[in-house]
Amino acid sequence: MLRCTLISHSESYYSTRRLLEAGQRLGYEMSRVDPVRVVLRASGTPGTPSPAVLEDGVEVAVPDVVVPRIGATLEGWSLGLLEAWILRGARSALSPAAIARASDKVLTTLGLVRAGVPVVPTVAIREPFHVDSVLAELPADSWILKSRTGMGGGGVALVHGRSSARSVLGALTAGHETVLVQPFMRTSPTRDLRVLVAGMEPIAAYWREAQGDEFRSNVHRGGLASAAEASLPEGAFELALAAARATALPFSGVDLIETADGLAVLEVNASPGFQGVEEATGKDVATPYLQRWMAWPAGDVGV
Ligand SMILES: Nc1ncnc2c1ncn2[C@@H]1O[C@H](COP(=O)(O)OP(=O)(O)O)[C@@H](O)[C@H]1O
Ligand SMILES: [Mg+2]
Repeated sequence: MLRCTLISHSESYYSTRRLLEAGQRLGYEMSRVDPVRVVLRASGTPGTPSPAVLEDGVEVAVPDVVVPRIGATLEGWSLGLLEAWILRGARSALSPAAIARASDKVLTTLGLVRAGVPVVPTVAIREPFHVDSVLAELPADSWILKSRTGMGGGGVALVHGRSSARSVLGALTAGHETVLVQPFMRTSPTRDLRVLVAGMEPIAAYWREAQGDEFRSNVHRGGLASAAEASLPEGAFELALAAARATALPFSGVDLIETADGLAVLEVNASPGFQGVEEATGKDVATPYLQRWMAWPAGDVGV
């Protein structure tokens, strides 16, 4: 029986619970390791297994397959655990390097551009004295400002008008933080399209619609999910797969937005959530996602 371990902080997370249930039904030996409950041993006396993940001083068995479910706060630490298990022979469909790059919006954007994948026009800035040239570079009446590493909409702001944009961007870059600036893509309704890719195959697509005066469609910001199979824009799946390939993330949630020039990629998520799509469509996506993950050869899509 294949042993599969999830790296995830809590079983109360919807997607973690669904993956564990799906794996048990599929006949895998499922377990979860909580990154805050373990230490990592990366050296040892000869004959001591290393690297090793230890819980209460006891080594956690190295699984055949690892599924990292990595959120913003524990990212670097969880990637260390993943790397340690890969070094001990465990398989992961996503490499630690690809996951790390996915959490950096500058590197992700560059990876997409390099592969010729259309992205939302973006200018990255670090120094406050470039504010005016950035705004001149991106003519618009409203702009989106993003931190380099935000997740779940947490690092994303909308500003209206040049003088607000100039002052907010000045304040954000005062501490020499990288900020990504994009024109605000107005869509009606305010929505984007999430394509769930598993093993370089689209297994679900759904619209995420921002609610009320919120512009962010993230499910954790109240974004409402609805099935998109019947209203899929032309080329959406091809674009999502091109983005997954460009970022070396054969398992991912690719966000697309409609622009005047056609669909563009907003971002590629390495640990996409299942709650929105399963509740909206009534479809089980955890099972096909895990099934494909378990069968996927390690490091198959490399960049
Ligand atoms: N340029 C943009 N134009 C319009 N809406 C945007 C733009 N960038 C982001 N958004 C909205 O904000 C949400 C969060 O942005 P995103 O870049 O995906 O960051 P996060 O990683 O925090 O989810 C998107 O899902 C979308 O609804
Ligand atoms: Mg997003």
